[in-house]
Amino acid sequence: MEIKKQHKIRKAWIWDATIEKFIFNILRKYSNITYKRNVKILNCPCGKSRIGTHFCDADKNVFTEEELEDEEHYKIADMRELPYKDNYFDIAISDPPWKLKYFKRFKPYYELTRVVRDNGLVIYNATWIPTSKYDEVLEVYVRQDTAFGLTSIFSIIQVKK
Ligand SMILES: C[S@@+](CC[C@H](N)C(=O)[O-])C[C@H]1O[C@@H](n2cnc3c(N)ncnc32)[C@H](O)[C@@H]1O
Repeated sequence: MEIKKQHKIRKAWIWDATIEKFIFNILRKYSNITYKRNVKILNCPCGKSRIGTHFCDADKNVFTEEELEDEEHYKIADMRELPYKDNYFDIAISDPPWKLKYFKRFKPYYELTRVVRDNGLVIYNATWIPTSKYDEVLEVYVRQDTAFGLTSIFSIIQVKK
């Protein structure tokens, strides 16, 4: 699929070790959900991040050739039409392009909640907080790369079905 220029991955968007550590701490905090045998964690759109068990992005260049051979765990797909069954995941981690226009923000979020099971988690990083009457925002964290720099919000959401 064609990815608009403003939504294409760039170096500054790739999560550094501090963000990855923050997410690991969230996964640890919600260990009642995350620490179980065969836990399934979707990272979509994953870019270059490899926190999780399953990875999906519209850009094939974020994957290595070796990864693309493993079609179960690495998929090239549109976040508005995820190629997974309902309730397949325990958790979804999502860092969508922040220049998504207001009305383009809904479908990708609802796709995440479709593929995450009841009481599962969505860990969502954007400049907006996705909410719906079904889900519960458990926590929000504001993060900033540098003083006076861009900020984003990590929303920790429990999916309710
Ligand atoms: C903010 S970046 C994710 C960066 C990631 N957290 C990392 O550490 O590398 C957003 C990603 O969305 C992907 N993307 C843009 N439009 C998409 C779409 N319609 N479906 C799936 N992925 C899309 C881009 O290819 C890009 O990798």
